Amino acid sequence: MDENKEFRPEAEVEILESGPLRISGNFILKDLKRGDESAPGEVFLCRCGKSNNKPFCDDSHKNK
Ligand code: FES
Repeated sequence: MDENKEFRPEAEVEILESGPLRISGNFILKDLKRGDESAPGEVFLCRCGKSNNKPFCDDSHKNK
């Protein structure tokens, strides 16, 4: 990524290898199904589909 001193992101999304999306920073997480809204600061969202606690990662992706 080019260095841009004007760009100040408030949140960061990391795609963890063979694992979840890690989102950290200043953001709002809206769970429309549960009618819940929070500012957790950091979440790990499942992208493998195996979690028993979706949308959050519960480390089930580690089980082969
Ligand atoms: S990415 Fe961890 S349980 Fe799906």
